[in-house]
Amino acid sequence: MVSGTGGEWWTGAVGYEIYVRSFADHSGDGIGDLAGVTDHLDHLVGLGVDVVWLTPFYPTPGFDHGYDISDYCAVDPAHGTLDDFDRLTAEAHRRGLRVVVDLVPNHTSAEHPWFRDALANPRGDCRDYYIWEDPAPDGGPPNNWVSHFGGPAWTLEPGSGQYYCHLFLPEQPDLNWSNPDVVAEFDRILLFWADRGVDGFRIDVAHGLVKDPLRRDNSLSRPLTPDMGPVEIFESYDHDHDLDQDANIEIFRGWNQLLRSRDIILIGEIGVSDQKRASRYVAGGDGLHEIFFLESTYLPWDVESWRQAVTGLQPLAPTGVSWVLSCHDRPRAVTRFGGGERGARRAFALATLTMGLGGTPFIYQGEELGLPDGRIEEGRATDPLAVRNPGSPEAGRDGCRTHMPWTDGPTNGFSPADRTWLPSQDRPAHLTVAGQSDDPDSMLNLYRDLIAFRHRTPALWEEPLRWPDSATEVVLGLRPRALMVLNMAPEPREVRLPDGPWTVSFDSRCGSCRSAAAQSLVVTRETCLILTRT
Ligand code: GLC
Repeated sequence: MVSGTGGEWWTGAVGYEIYVRSFADHSGDGIGDLAGVTDHLDHLVGLGVDVVWLTPFYPTPGFDHGYDISDYCAVDPAHGTLDDFDRLTAEAHRRGLRVVVDLVPNHTSAEHPWFRDALANPRGDCRDYYIWEDPAPDGGPPNNWVSHFGGPAWTLEPGSGQYYCHLFLPEQPDLNWSNPDVVAEFDRILLFWADRGVDGFRIDVAHGLVKDPLRRDNSLSRPLTPDMGPVEIFESYDHDHDLDQDANIEIFRGWNQLLRSRDIILIGEIGVSDQKRASRYVAGGDGLHEIFFLESTYLPWDVESWRQAVTGLQPLAPTGVSWVLSCHDRPRAVTRFGGGERGARRAFALATLTMGLGGTPFIYQGEELGLPDGRIEEGRATDPLAVRNPGSPEAGRDGCRTHMPWTDGPTNGFSPADRTWLPSQDRPAHLTVAGQSDDPDSMLNLYRDLIAFRHRTPALWEEPLRWPDSATEVVLGLRPRALMVLNMAPEPREVRLPDGPWTVSFDSRCGSCRSAAAQSLVVTRETCLILTRT
């Protein structure tokens, strides 16, 4: 718990996503590992975050870079050992940092012993761990569900003549969450990591676990056209029957109950754009504690989109939303908002807005440096989204997954190896941790300042928030003791304030450069201010 607050330890906290493959390589094989994370914990302490989320480090054949797990209770040799995990957790805890691990319950790897057994013994117990259907009358897939990564969500298994379901790659078969044995297996997995001392779980594709038992077709929300890439095709369906089924919520109620005495946070990746539906996952207080609302990584630099997202979700789930601006699946915010100085300015203005909200905002490694996407060497793409769909207009996710730039030495100090798993252009010195650390005006120091400001300003997450409609290009959030003003316009805007007195306590242009505010205030273009009552 952030000091001075009541409630759970995550109240008012700030999170940090570590994409383990690209954070720091201790062993020297060109792939990031757990010991590398331990080496750099002090960077996170210096930044001021409270909790780290580690992307999957479990044994995997690596078709989806670890999101295809072949053993949920071990560490992949490329990332280290269970001892490395224990050391990392102990060292993190010693520094007051919490550790959240990634749990992938929607699918396993096709190399998981359960799926191997399901193939080898069609009458065995493991068969029903997965979702099998007979072909449609024409011999094709049983329905029109599509995979996120292109093509149908069904693959024919010639041995049995049945299709199995996979919302991602054929190498990632979906589990059958209607089977109580699957529920029991995951209870064991959750307890395995809870007993090892983790402080929480980030639940991958949490909105996808349960599927319509009748396997009905999804309806199309717009016509498919030949020029669409896999993501656009996936998003052209309504997903009434393969995603966001009510029964998902029951599963998380069970987990909440199972882990009740453990002080553990459950954060679900919820790819559901409807705010009311997304908030169901946290509504009762007895299921997930927070949702990663991925929609925020799709919003353009546009005042109406942001006003709607924040005004829609805050009253529904004031402390149950983890705002995310960048993550390992989306182009980085700086790149999405135009790159360069402008992209960085906009991304930090939005970071200031989201740090002023309830829940646990998560920063993605490198976001604190104002990083744009990295440049991958020609022909070295590795993301299945790109590699499996040659000629697709969609670029894939490699650009946001390049190595963390620590120094301006070779591989930016990420790895002692000559070649890294995702060869990319090194970053210039001013975009590295070493290059920014001692520069008081750097993005890194702005983030340090912002996080410290959030921690010492409980009004930001304790008080109810009102969002009056406003005709200007300004998002305005009102609390009894704090105001947020985000001017998204390309020029300054004048804003009238409610009765004060108010002080500008945080300014996305210069951090905690305090100034008194009169009844009306001129806000610089593309700037977010947080004002507190004096
Ligand atoms: C989640 C992960 C993504 C992965 C997918 C399948 O969306 O964040 O990286 O490819 O699930 O597990």
